[in-house]
Amino acid sequence: METVFDLAGLHRAVTVWKAEGATIAFVPTMGNLHRGHFSLLERARELADKTIVSIFVNPIQFGKGEDYESYPSTLEHDSAGLADNDLDLLFAPDLNQLYPGGIDTDTRVVVPGLSHILCGRFRPEHFSGVATVVAKLLINTQTDFAIFGEKDYQQLLVIRQLATDLCMPMEIVGMPIIRKDDGLAMSSRNAYLNMTERKQAPLIYQTLQAATQRLRREPDQIPAIEAEGMKALEAGGFKPEYFSVRRTEDLAEPGAQDIRLSILTAAWLGSARLIDNVKVLLDKS
Ligand code: PAF
Repeated sequence: METVFDLAGLHRAVTVWKAEGATIAFVPTMGNLHRGHFSLLERARELADKTIVSIFVNPIQFGKGEDYESYPSTLEHDSAGLADNDLDLLFAPDLNQLYPGGIDTDTRVVVPGLSHILCGRFRPEHFSGVATVVAKLLINTQTDFAIFGEKDYQQLLVIRQLATDLCMPMEIVGMPIIRKDDGLAMSSRNAYLNMTERKQAPLIYQTLQAATQRLRREPDQIPAIEAEGMKALEAGGFKPEYFSVRRTEDLAEPGAQDIRLSILTAAWLGSARLIDNVKVLLDKS
C-alpha cells in the first residue's frame, strides 16, 4: 500500500493507473475506521482494479459546537488496517491540500432540496460541507466508482444528486449498514457512548424495527408511527431530533401509492448523535 499526503502524489498514482487502463474504486472516510468502512473497501476491491481510501476530517461539515476538535484521529492504526486489507493507495491530505484558499472563502457546493430536510434541519451547513469535500475528492481521484455506507442514507442521496448534477462520469455505490450483534449500527461516534449508554443504544434499531412492523400493518398511520417512535426513544433516554417515514428514492414524504419507504432517525444519547435507518417494502397489492 502506498500512502500519499498531497494532491500531486495522488495525481501521479492515478495517472499511471489510467495509462495502464486500470479502473479505480474510491472510499472517502474521516478515519477511525471500523468494520463498516472495511466492508466498503471490500466492495471497492470487487468493483475495480485499483482502490483508494481517503482519510480527512473535513472541518466544514461540522457545525459550531460539534465534535470537529475532538473527532478521533487514528491514522497509524487505520493505515495498518488498510494495508492488511489490500488497499492500493491511502490519501491522507492536510487542510491546505483540500482548502488552498482557506475554509472561510473557498468555493462551496450546495445540493438544494435534499440538503435541508431531516438531518439538514438540525445541521444546516452539514451537507454543503460534505458535498464540497466529496466533489473535490471525486474530481481528484478520477474514480470510476465511489462507495458510501447507507447508514448515512441522506448523505448517499445528496452525493448521488451532486454527481448527477455536476455530470460526473462515475457510479455512486451504496452499501448496506453493518451492525453490531445487538443491532447498533457501526459508527465512529459510538466511541462517545459510556458503558450505560452503550447498553441503551440498541433501542434505536429496536424502535425502527417496531415502527417497521406497524407500518406494514397500518400504512396509513404514518404520523402516529412517527410520534410513537419519538416517544419510545425519549422514554429510553434519547433526545431524538426526528423519526420520519420517507420515500426511499428521494426522501420525500410518501403518498398513498408509494411502497418503497425508509424510516430514518437521528437522536442524541449523551454526547453521541446517532443516526440510523431501515428500508420497508410495503405490499399494497
Ligand atoms: O461519511 C463520512 O465519513 C464523511 O461525511 C465523508 C463522506 C468522508 C465526507 O467527509
